[in-house]
Amino acid sequence: MPYNLKGRNVLVTGGSRGLGALVARKLAAEECNVAINYISSVERAEKTARSIHDDFHVQTFVVQGDVGVHADCVNMVRKTIEALGGLDVIVSNAAWTKFTAFGDLYAMIEEDWDKVCPQSPLSFLMHTVDFGLDMWYGIVLGGKC
Ligand SMILES: NC(=O)c1ccc[n+]([C@@H]2O[C@H](COP(=O)([O-])OP(=O)(O)OC[C@H]3O[C@@H](n4cnc5c(N)ncnc54)[C@H](OP(=O)(O)O)[C@@H]3O)[C@@H](O)[C@H]2O)c1
Repeated sequence: MPYNLKGRNVLVTGGSRGLGALVARKLAAEECNVAINYISSVERAEKTARSIHDDFHVQTFVVQGDVGVHADCVNMVRKTIEALGGLDVIVSNAAWTKFTAFGDLYAMIEEDWDKVCPQSPLSFLMHTVDFGLDMWYGIVLGGKC
């Protein structure tokens, strides 16, 4: 059965720029309201949210939080529900990336792996799986962990 996106409330982690911003725009074009998560640049997140609102006339909301921190994950879900009146879809996109030379097995040091895995797209699911949402339609982007 096709899933109708119209009027759905969507949280896009790392939605302020890059692939997350693109996905947020595509969802807004389908008449979804979008919550844009970011970690450090509120200006960029607000710019993205404003442009989506102006172009598609949907509700937008900006929420700070680190997807590698349990309390932040729970907080951003809670704030999104408060701001949009509910949450239907989470696009777990945010992650830290280190680009290295292909084939260089030693380019990633231990600290890099420690940073990558807690922020993997799957980690957000783990952090909020107990949140008690009635429905969960998770789209996991990226290819790590
Ligand atoms: N680009 C590629 O070639 C590529 C290829 C394969 C997979 N991917 C995966 O696709 C996803 C998006 O990649 P991208 O290149 O579009 O990323 P990007 O342009 O670097 O954007 C990263 C976004 O995530 C936010 N962010 C970073 N760390 C965060 C954290 N710990 N908690 C919350 N938000 C965080 C950033 O917020 P701020 O603006 O505040 O920093 C920004 O909104 C990642 O999972 C990446 O691994 C990308």
